[in-house]
Amino acid sequence: MSLSIIILAAGQGTRMRSARPKVLHPLAGRPLLAHVIDTARALQGSDIHVVIGHGAEQVQALIPDSDIQWVLQADQLGTGHAVAQAMPAIADGNTVLVMYGDVPLVSRETLEPLCSLAARGMAALLTAELDNPAGYGRILHHADGSICGIVEEKDASSAEKALHEINTGFIAAPAARLRGWVEALDNNNAQGEFYLTDVIARAVTEGTSVRGVMAENINEVLGINDRRQLAVQERCFQQRQAERCLQAGITLPDPARFDLRGELTAGQDIYIDINAVLEGKIILGDRVTIGPNVVMRNATVGDDVTILANCVIEDAEIGAGSRIGPFARLRPETRLAAHTHVGNFVEIKKSDVGEGSKINHLSYIGDTSIGADVNIGAGTITCNYDGANKHRTVIGDRVFIGSDTQLVAPVEIQAGATIGAGSTITRDVPANELTLSRTQQQTHTGWKRPVKKPKG
Ligand code: UD1
Ligand code: CA
Repeated sequence: MSLSIIILAAGQGTRMRSARPKVLHPLAGRPLLAHVIDTARALQGSDIHVVIGHGAEQVQALIPDSDIQWVLQADQLGTGHAVAQAMPAIADGNTVLVMYGDVPLVSRETLEPLCSLAARGMAALLTAELDNPAGYGRILHHADGSICGIVEEKDASSAEKALHEINTGFIAAPAARLRGWVEALDNNNAQGEFYLTDVIARAVTEGTSVRGVMAENINEVLGINDRRQLAVQERCFQQRQAERCLQAGITLPDPARFDLRGELTAGQDIYIDINAVLEGKIILGDRVTIGPNVVMRNATVGDDVTILANCVIEDAEIGAGSRIGPFARLRPETRLAAHTHVGNFVEIKKSDVGEGSKINHLSYIGDTSIGADVNIGAGTITCNYDGANKHRTVIGDRVFIGSDTQLVAPVEIQAGATIGAGSTITRDVPANELTLSRTQQQTHTGWKRPVKKPKG
């Protein structure tokens, strides 16, 4: 018998007050729905059905879907109606698990017991005990303690609203039974919707055994209906990631000010200061130090690298023993070899910098190849753009470029050349010579500064 998973993601998410479908709002940089699909995949469901409706094309465009069967729910008539749309594609002999696209942090371990109960013919639902149950459906019990149904908050009496055991939304049941139950639903309730939650009372009436499984970790099962809840779940997810980093031997002076929106692979003795934002794929070697307020997206960093405060780094490689920042910007396709120094207010784009080379202050290096042991003086600019096309600058090994130099590309500075400060270099420069372009310095002896005319 195999497991079919239905993920409900058709709703608009009115309470988000957004033009974007709710399930596409990002949590740790990825759509809510992507997190739910990850968990569905981890459960190894034989088939995953995602019910979409509001913003369906947008959702499909943003979610990689080779193993997903999309189900269209043209009108969002309720969670029960949504499940009914997916049922025709599911075989009677299967077990079905229903997941909600707006409950992103649930884990495989929490859902597995539901699936095994359903595989044994029962209806199983995941519940939780919340101090503040507002907004959730409440679990109703018979006098003997067994579950008899779920009441939605909008339909609940004040006695029912006082109950603290809530419906998380996750339900598992044998497919043939669930099919019958959702087909028989009505929309006779406060919201005029076909509630999936009503299948529980139906299962009980029919004599199917209904089991509640209480979630151990409440944070996993909180739903996201508005931006406040989104923020709460984001912090919860980040806290979990920070704890994983600490366990893995990374120092975080304040785990509450750490944001990983992607995947971090890290060596030993890493130090990540406050307010770092790490996005995409980040690979750090051993003994890397990242200063405060550093933003990195897709970066590979070698051993013993120090990144000082306030750097912005995107799609870049930094070789071992290098020192970056403070206030440096590495843009896409920047590759720094080992032991390079990139200092404050330096921007580098689409360039290779050779081993031991230094660009310490106030420079723009774009579309450039720099050899080893080069010194780029303060305020050096590669003029790579002529207004229509980009051109390359090539700088050989051991070149010394004086401060405030403009290199007008395409141009090549051959190995060992020295360029005098303040030069505008428009032609190729030979190896090992001093080249400069500078007007002669003049002194006008006896010249007097103008003085202010006396008033009146
Ligand atoms: C639902 C449950 C409630 C539970 C809570 C847990 C119902 C009737 N209520 O309430 O008992 O405590 O979740 O978070 O199930 N959706 C569709 N099609 C629709 C309507 C909704 O696909 O026609 C999707 C939504 O996109 C969302 C999910 O189903 O991902 C839940 O819908 P939502 O409106 O958020 O239900 P809640 O009011 O939170
Ligand atoms: Ca919800």
